[in-house]
Amino acid sequence: MTATQTWNTTDLIEKDKAHLLHPVSNLKDMREQGPLVLSQGDGVYLWDTDGKQYIDAFAGLWNVNVGHGRKVLADAAAEQIMTVDFVPNFFGLASPPSIELAAKLAEIFPGHLNHFQFTSGGAESNETSLKIARYYWWLKGKQEKVKIISRKMGYHGIAMGALAATGIPTYHEGFGPMVPGYVHVSPPYMYRFGEGMSEDEFVSKLIQELEDLIAAEGEDTIAAMIGEPVTGAGGVVVPPAEYWPAVRETLTKHNILLIADEVICGFGRTGQMFGEQTFGYVADIASFAKGVTSGYIPLGGSAVSDEIFDTMSSADRMFMHGFTYSGHPVACQVALRNIQILEEEDLATNAQVGGDALRAELHRLLDDHAHVGDIRGIGQMTLVEMVENKETKAKYDPALKMGDKLTMETRKNGIIVRCTNDGVAIAPPLTLTTEQAKTVAEAVAASIETILV
Ligand SMILES: Cc1ncc(COP(=O)(O)O)c(C=O)c1O
Repeated sequence: MTATQTWNTTDLIEKDKAHLLHPVSNLKDMREQGPLVLSQGDGVYLWDTDGKQYIDAFAGLWNVNVGHGRKVLADAAAEQIMTVDFVPNFFGLASPPSIELAAKLAEIFPGHLNHFQFTSGGAESNETSLKIARYYWWLKGKQEKVKIISRKMGYHGIAMGALAATGIPTYHEGFGPMVPGYVHVSPPYMYRFGEGMSEDEFVSKLIQELEDLIAAEGEDTIAAMIGEPVTGAGGVVVPPAEYWPAVRETLTKHNILLIADEVICGFGRTGQMFGEQTFGYVADIASFAKGVTSGYIPLGGSAVSDEIFDTMSSADRMFMHGFTYSGHPVACQVALRNIQILEEEDLATNAQVGGDALRAELHRLLDDHAHVGDIRGIGQMTLVEMVENKETKAKYDPALKMGDKLTMETRKNGIIVRCTNDGVAIAPPLTLTTEQAKTVAEAVAASIETILV
């Protein structure tokens, strides 16, 4: 398939420069340079307004899990709009798709995660999960249990509660003061923090740090710990196999809830339907978004355990939390059809096969290239970590804008990836074939070889 529509690229770019505020972008650069305007998609491919083809090797924002241009998802949305466009979940109302989706999610989420409130995206889902954790303890008469443990390098979205949990300092700059009551622990980032240790030793060290923090803060003041099964935006940190089961055990021992932020990992990306399944644990609450609809329409939500649901629904009072679009029938209908595709095509398995092929192709860079420090990932989440100095693992000076330079080069080479000062993050649709993985790897390697000299 090729691009079919003609656009006036210059006009679009001028309007963009004048009127559009781009998220997580250098607005000064955007005002001078304007955006790359992508106007069409099909499968793993995107086309810009001048007809140039790219592989969307970042699946939008880690979310277009089933690939672009699925007509059945357009049909599901259109049919639902013509049946009933909007019914809320507030005030004792529901639509069939919101009920059916909750039931379907109960079937596929692990263990006791059987009850759902819907949102429109990841940050709203985390706000919901964090508030439910506090609410649960409040209902139990433990009003002091309010603090949240999260991890450095974790990304949980940019609404105020989610932002305070986010452990990447640049997201906080200029937006203070942060919501109080959040404390951060070290991430399971072997490459930088576990040097010279076995995985077991590293996990023991991290668990000791968690134990020390709980002792210092007091377990009666802590509601929950939140973490992504695999840290995404912070740098694709794949934990050692024993990490999550050990964290789970520690938190259970201290009566602290565990929230899994499955916003990226959920719906197949780590090689199983949920990151919790990949790492062998079950949280008390799980946030999800992105892959639940493959990004075709905004939807997210929080899954809660039987125990939390029983506590919440045994209290004879109003649960004063929710969003207008909690349970939007059109989004829920698209999610149902999207999950059917994920299951029928076994895209979780395909994610593991495609991701392994990608990393195998990239691997030579580790030996061959002076500025590639680490290549890691799982399923269809991969990071090629770049370093200025391989021995010291020193990063490039951000003023050199190496991420921006790599962004331009990778686009020139026909792939859309996320390039930052950490390196190149690759998270294509789960449909990516091993042949397409090879093309992506070649374009990444060629870009690195040109820019990191
Ligand atoms: C793990 C994680 N949680 C939460 C979010 C926030 O999601 P949203 O941008 O939909 O609010 C993201 C976004 O990338 C994410 O990666």
